[in-house]
Amino acid sequence: MGTKTTYDAMFSTVIGKEYDMLKLICPAATEMSRLVGESVSASNNKSEILHVVELGGGTGITTLALLSAKNNLHILSVDNEPTMQQQAKLSLQQWVDSGCLSFSAEDALTALQGLEDSSVDIVASAYTLHNFLHSYRQQVLKEIFRVLKPDGEFINGDRYGLDDIRQHTHTIQAEVSEWFKVLTPINRNDLLEQWLVHLFNDESEDHVMRESVALQQLQESGFIDIKLSHRNAVNALVTAIKPA
Ligand SMILES: C[S@@+](CC[C@H](N)C(=O)[O-])C[C@H]1O[C@@H](n2cnc3c(N)ncnc32)[C@H](O)[C@@H]1O
Repeated sequence: MGTKTTYDAMFSTVIGKEYDMLKLICPAATEMSRLVGESVSASNNKSEILHVVELGGGTGITTLALLSAKNNLHILSVDNEPTMQQQAKLSLQQWVDSGCLSFSAEDALTALQGLEDSSVDIVASAYTLHNFLHSYRQQVLKEIFRVLKPDGEFINGDRYGLDDIRQHTHTIQAEVSEWFKVLTPINRNDLLEQWLVHLFNDESEDHVMRESVALQQLQESGFIDIKLSHRNAVNALVTAIKPA
């Protein structure tokens, strides 16, 4: 897997094998969590405590990237899959104890609906919104806009499908080939099967989060300063601001 950076070593220690395996199968995904954290640390927000809502915390990889980015955060990490969230709870207990982190087991929409208007500085997420059905995603974006404070920021590292469908298909084919190359030699056909089965979900017409449609949805929800950056194959970082 090559030489581990200090960042990787910290993640391997706190998150465990889960992080190492994700880095092996999809290095772009672990990098995207790092970028989400970096965007939060670059935020100009002057609040004494930054109130962050994280959607789809999973096993805690993005959560840890956020916690490492800034000292003055409070994160509410939302995930409605108990097995995933339980792992994050175990790995990140020290941040729960120090009052920087709490968890919600509700689904993203319900959790957001339970929050006050203009009460959150940043909504951050990685690899979660692409799992949503279009209509659900639209409602989630509307709620994100509502709960953000004026000047608040939405930061999402995720699978943003390419507008050029042929190029998109080639990209996905290359992605699948890479999984075979990485997982076959280590006899992880079980993971290969899981990832392939999940890919059909991601690529289905009622889920796929096509770049131009996604950016337009943000605009229609009221966001400004919408930027897509760091594109790497199907992965990209999207940031958007709620107007002051
Ligand atoms: C691919 S994982 C991403 C985890 C982590 N952010 C990362 O990048 O490694 C997506 C997570 O989103 C969660 N999720 C999917 N749909 C959700 C929903 N509607 N509400 C809350 N969490 C959801 C899943 O349970 C899963 O843990």
